[in-house]
Amino acid sequence: MDTNLHIPESVAIIMDGNGRWAKKRGLPRTMGHKEGCSAIERLLPEASDLGIRYLTVYAFSTENWKRSAEEVDGLMQLFRFYAGRLLRSAREKNVRVRMIGDRRRFQPDIVASINRLEEETKDNTGMTFIVAANYGGRDEIRRAVMRYAEDYKAGRVPADAFAGPDAGYPAGELTERGFASYLDMPDVPDPDLLIRTSGELRLSNFLVWEAAYSEIVVTDTLWPDFDREELLRCIDEFNHRSRRFGGV
Ligand code: IPE
Ligand code: IPE
Ligand code: MG
Repeated sequence: MDTNLHIPESVAIIMDGNGRWAKKRGLPRTMGHKEGCSAIERLLPEASDLGIRYLTVYAFSTENWKRSAEEVDGLMQLFRFYAGRLLRSAREKNVRVRMIGDRRRFQPDIVASINRLEEETKDNTGMTFIVAANYGGRDEIRRAVMRYAEDYKAGRVPADAFAGPDAGYPAGELTERGFASYLDMPDVPDPDLLIRTSGELRLSNFLVWEAAYSEIVVTDTLWPDFDREELLRCIDEFNHRSRRFGGV
């Protein structure tokens, strides 16, 4: 592997394969999720030391509520347990924690711990760690449209959200950047590298808008086994891609 790897600024991960990891060992799915939480806990300081500036992880999708009550409850319990530990490791590593997704569907104590994580780490200047929970790319766009419509009705959309003469479409239309300012995290750069574990070749409703030009790397590794070495392999693959953004 190249020892002079260029480290992407913004990395996103679909942490998939916890259930299969547990099944292979004859364990309940929740044990896979617990190991998955340990894997992210181990990876956080490594990613920060490597110099990644933004790390976004898919923890729970808007579709994951379809799972059994037992599994969903297990995931909520893990969230409660790991929120406190995450606050400690974020403090140690100067990491800022943020959340994307619709938090209104969670129990009030979980919402409170998300708010606390964001509030108590907001001045940290190291890596930004973004947790996608009750997140769906389509839902994010839906909520953005609703916010935009409200602002439009109230005459609150900033003038620079509309196209000037050089936008490539008629002047006065809403620009892509203007629309994106209504998404969950407009100040976070789009992912350069999008990793999916467990071999699945789909987006599963993750970052539908933001991943338009992300380099996608899929690894067969199940999420609980994902570590620094595996992350470096994914970054190495990213280093061999030629990004053209529609140009030549
Ligand atoms: C990813 O692992 C974690 C969540 C979706 C919460 P899965 O639970 O989807 O694991 P598999 O895909 O069944 O192996
Ligand atoms: C995507 O994985 C969601 C998370 C990793 C949180 P899923 O396991 O839910 O996706 P599908 O069902 O395989 O598409
Ligand atoms: Mg899965």
